[in-house]
Amino acid sequence: MTGPEPAEAARLLAAARRPVVFTGAGMSAESGVPTFRDAQTGLWQRYDPQELATPAAFRADPALVWGWYEARRRGVRRALPNPGHRAVAAIQARLPETVVITQNVDDLHERGGVPAPVRLHGSLFAPRCSACARPAPLPSDLPPHDELEPHDELEPHGGPESRGEPEPHDGPLTPPACAGCGAPVRPGVVWFGEALPSAALDAAVEAAAGCDLLLTVGTSALVHPAAEIPLVAARLGAPVVQVNPVPTPLDAICAVNLRGPAGEVLPALVRAAWPDADVG
Ligand code: APR
Repeated sequence: MTGPEPAEAARLLAAARRPVVFTGAGMSAESGVPTFRDAQTGLWQRYDPQELATPAAFRADPALVWGWYEARRRGVRRALPNPGHRAVAAIQARLPETVVITQNVDDLHERGGVPAPVRLHGSLFAPRCSACARPAPLPSDLPPHDELEPHDELEPHGGPESRGEPEPHDGPLTPPACAGCGAPVRPGVVWFGEALPSAALDAAVEAAAGCDLLLTVGTSALVHPAAEIPLVAARLGAPVVQVNPVPTPLDAICAVNLRGPAGEVLPALVRAAWPDADVG
């Protein structure tokens, strides 16, 4: 990373005490998790994600929507954190007041070393009842992370098929029934048209309002209210640094725009801010 923009971003990071790192789907792109607006693969190609991720779609066809989220969950389960996730963890290790806010529903920040990101859009790993909201167990096709053999975590794409096991069914899948009331279990994510979890949104706004640098990474900044988080920081005077290979609506409010993939730009930024940093 050379030139005046990266140097300015590194200077801002080195001077920060309470940064916020705000992430979107681009953060996990280099881990092989498709961004939300990317082309879909396999039999899901004929569906538009924006039409599957709604309460109306689940009411109309619970098996279609549950099957799609299960396919995404399995894809995420096989993915590994990339150097960008580890760079974010290195920032938090260096500056313990760092708040990581994510719109992603994967668990790659946690596996990359950020134990408790603020989750604005929920998680693929927290299903709940669609009627009474009782938490439901995860389908048991994959062991929880802490029961994995170490090599599973090291092997890229170390999922069941790479171990010679059959890939679970990919397609519409009847959701489990709630153990309490019998209604269909739904993914624990926020769908289009739904409110964000208020505790997470409050925590995100408070962190953005109190931060001294906001680093926005891999988001198209098109989906509100999440997209307002960087605006809150900018309005209250914090510099905003953006990491994205392409321009976004946030360009205009950013002190620095770093054009490039998160997995390359973030480790370089951390090393430029703190030459002794351990970014893996
Ligand atoms: N590094 C950084 N950014 C990248 C990379 C990369 N390697 N690859 C792609 N990007 C950028 C794209 O240029 C794009 O701006 O990531 C962004 C991804 O945008 P979206 O797919 O719109 O994802 P996001 O902004 O997270 O969407 C917000 O909308 O679809 C809903 O709930 C879903 O949380 C999601 C929300």
